Amino acid sequence: MRSIINEKNLNNKKILLRLDLNVPLEKDKITDTTRIDKILPTLNFLIKEKAQIIILSHIGRPKGKTVKELSLQPITKELENKLKKKVKLIHKNIKEIKNKSFFDRYDQEILILENIRFYSEEEENDYEFAKHISKLGDIYVNDAFSCSHRAHASIYKLPKFLPSFSGLQLDLEVDALNKITSEITRPTTCIIGGSKISTKINVIKNLIPKFDNIIIVGGMANNFIEFYGNSIGKSIKEKNCDKIVGEIVSLSKKEKCKIIYPEDVIISKNLNGSPQNKELSEILYDEMILDIGPKTIEKIAKIIDNSKTILWNGPAGYFENPNFANGSIQIAKKIIENNKTNKIFSVVGGGDTVSLLTNMNVINNFNFVSTAGGAFLEYLEGKNLPGITALN
Ligand code: 3PG
Repeated sequence: MRSIINEKNLNNKKILLRLDLNVPLEKDKITDTTRIDKILPTLNFLIKEKAQIIILSHIGRPKGKTVKELSLQPITKELENKLKKKVKLIHKNIKEIKNKSFFDRYDQEILILENIRFYSEEEENDYEFAKHISKLGDIYVNDAFSCSHRAHASIYKLPKFLPSFSGLQLDLEVDALNKITSEITRPTTCIIGGSKISTKINVIKNLIPKFDNIIIVGGMANNFIEFYGNSIGKSIKEKNCDKIVGEIVSLSKKEKCKIIYPEDVIISKNLNGSPQNKELSEILYDEMILDIGPKTIEKIAKIIDNSKTILWNGPAGYFENPNFANGSIQIAKKIIENNKTNKIFSVVGGGDTVSLLTNMNVINNFNFVSTAGGAFLEYLEGKNLPGITALN
C-alpha cells in the first residue's frame, strides 16, 4: 500500500478522493462531524500540493436511487467552513460527464460528486462504471477506511484502473489496528460490549489467541451471566446463544485467555427507573441490568492498570441515561489515566463508544479512536478488507 503523503508532483493532478462522508444528519444538520474532522489532513495536504480534488462519497443507503434527503449538500457547506475554501457539489450525473476536462473550469474549487450510491452500479461493483469514473481523474486515493469492507465500485474496482494510494486517515487506521492485532505488547486486554453477541462472536474468537483478557460488558454480558446460572430478570439478551457462549469459554480455556464478565450490576425496573447496585444472585424477575457495578469497575480498573495494550469496543451499560453511564465513564477514565503516563497503547472503536467519548470530550486522550463501524469489526475478525486489498 502506497501512501499519498509520499507522492511528489501532484501539481494540477486530478485526484479522485474516496472519502466516507457518511455522517449523521438530522434535517440537514450534521450531528457529529468527527468523520469530517479526521479527513481534513488529507485535504489540506492535497491543497498544499496544488492538486485538483474531486471527492467521491456516499451517505446513507439510497439503494441506487436519487434521494433528495441523502444529498451531500450539507457536507459540502461544512467542508467549506472547515477548509475556508470554496467547495462545489457537482449535481451532473456522473455517467454523463464525458472526460476529466469537464473539471478544468473549476480549477479553483474543491469538487464533490453527488452521493455515489445514487447509482446502482456502485454497490454492484460494476466494471464499466468504475472504468468510466477512472477516466475522470489521474490518481485515486482511498481515505475511507470505514467503507473499505465494502466491495463496491468506488472502493474495490476503481483502483484497478488508476495509480492508487491510501490517504492519511486510512494509514492511521491500518497502523493502529496492526498495532493492536499483530505487533501487540502484552499483557493485552480487550473490553467488548454491545447488545448482540452474535455480531461480535468472530471478533472474540479471533482475539482470544492474541489477548490475555477479554472483558465482556454491555447487553451481551447478560448471556454470560445467565450461562453461569444466574437469573437476569427482564434484562435484554440475545436468544439461543448458549452454544456461542460455550464455544467462547472453551476456546479461551484452550488459549489461556481470561474471560471476565460482571460480578455485580446496576439494575432498575425500567430504562428510566432509579439505579440500584445488586449482586448477581439478587436480581429479581422484574428487574433489568443496565450497567456494571462498583466491584466490577474496580476489577476492570486493576486489569487495565496491569495491561500494556487495550482495545475497547462497546459501552458497559445503557449510557444514554446518565444513571447507567458510570461503568463506561470509569472505564474511559482509567484508560485515559494510564495513557497519560504512556503506560498503555489504547485503541477505541464503534459508534456508541465514540459517541460516549465525544460527549465526555475526551476523544483525543486515546492513542487511536476509529471512526469505522463495520470495517473496524471485520478487520478485528481477521478478514481481508476489499478496499485495502485493492490498494495492495
Ligand atoms: C459506515 O458508516 O460504517 C460506512 O459509511 C459504511 O456504510 P454502510 O454500512 O452503509 O456500507
